[in-house]
Amino acid sequence: MKKVLVTGGCGFLGSHVCEFYRRKGIDVIAYDNMTKTELMRTGFAVESARNYNSDFLKGIGVSVVKADVRNYEELLDHASGCDYIVHTAAQPAMTISWEDPRLDITTNVMGTFNVLEAARQHNIPVACCATIHIYGNKINERLTEAATRYEKKPVAIPETHPTLEGTLTPLHASKAAGDTYVRVYIDTYKVAAASFRLTGIYGPRQLGGEDHGWVANFAIRSVMGWPLTIFGTGKQVRDIIYASDICEAFDAFYRRKVPGVYNIGGGPGTMLSLLECIDIIEQINGKRPEVRFEPDRHGDLRYFVCNITKARRALGWKPTVKPRQGIEELIVWIQDNKHLFGG
Ligand SMILES: NC(=O)c1ccc[n+]([C@@H]2O[C@H](COP(=O)([O-])OP(=O)(O)OC[C@H]3O[C@@H](n4cnc5c(N)ncnc54)[C@H](O)[C@@H]3O)[C@@H](O)[C@H]2O)c1
Repeated sequence: MKKVLVTGGCGFLGSHVCEFYRRKGIDVIAYDNMTKTELMRTGFAVESARNYNSDFLKGIGVSVVKADVRNYEELLDHASGCDYIVHTAAQPAMTISWEDPRLDITTNVMGTFNVLEAARQHNIPVACCATIHIYGNKINERLTEAATRYEKKPVAIPETHPTLEGTLTPLHASKAAGDTYVRVYIDTYKVAAASFRLTGIYGPRQLGGEDHGWVANFAIRSVMGWPLTIFGTGKQVRDIIYASDICEAFDAFYRRKVPGVYNIGGGPGTMLSLLECIDIIEQINGKRPEVRFEPDRHGDLRYFVCNITKARRALGWKPTVKPRQGIEELIVWIQDNKHLFGG
């Protein structure tokens, strides 16, 4: 591989993908419109935070292009000559999806469609980001009991589980549509494509707030000494995954090119509840944050642990970073960059 196009390259996950390939000596284009709508609502130092990832990427030799995935001609032009497209650009937050469904559908559906078309026209493999939310939150009812006794017998959900069950938001529809279009492009046009159904991701350079990026949101608030809010009981369970493990999964797909949809999460080995995550943050940071509780939000998913057998077998991939180790890296980064959060 000589050149890779990373849409959303200046976002959290995209910046890690750019760094991953740049450090291997590969030419990288970070293609990003630099919106990050949810940043406006975090109370952080918005301009510094918005520029942080792009400055970092320019510093390591990534070519940063300010452009929009909804602009097909521009996307097609920048994809020319690339060997791989990793599509991370998105409107990723459920809350913003119900406030601005047009932003959500244009970014997530037309954006993903444009990326797939560009991949088809140039005959380039492409990996896209879906989310475990596309399974829907009916899992809440089925697995409530499992969630309360998950230490004994974790229930991991495979890709064959039905999707879009339970309470739906525009984000469910737009992300599921993107995931479906990936399958359409595999079946109809034989594009070497993958849709990664991603669980909760965390790591350095994650400017997490209440809308998106809960591990970073908890860690930032704890380091800054701010109270944090849990929506629900705090017993919600996720198999969180560190950003570099996902970069390895993207690379594994590029090497094997076995098309399809894949659950990409930490699996039973990284599952924890929100309250257990706060315990880990407290151990590392040395103080307990003030925690407030509010009711569940519309569409919230109480339990999800990925069955990652398919990705293990087809891609030869497995996650390696454990929560304690990864959260420590995240906290060190936050402590070094308090100015981004207004500190
Ligand atoms: N972070 C998580 O926990 C998580 C969980 C599941 C799935 N995902 C998915 O992973 C992907 C990356 O998420 P993230 O956490 O890095 O999000 P992020 O918000 O940090 O990054 C997304 C980037 O896309 C850019 N962008 C938005 N609209 C654009 C457009 N029209 N054109 C070009 N760029 C645009 C934003 O400016 C931002 O830099 C998304 O598809 C998201 O839905 C994330």
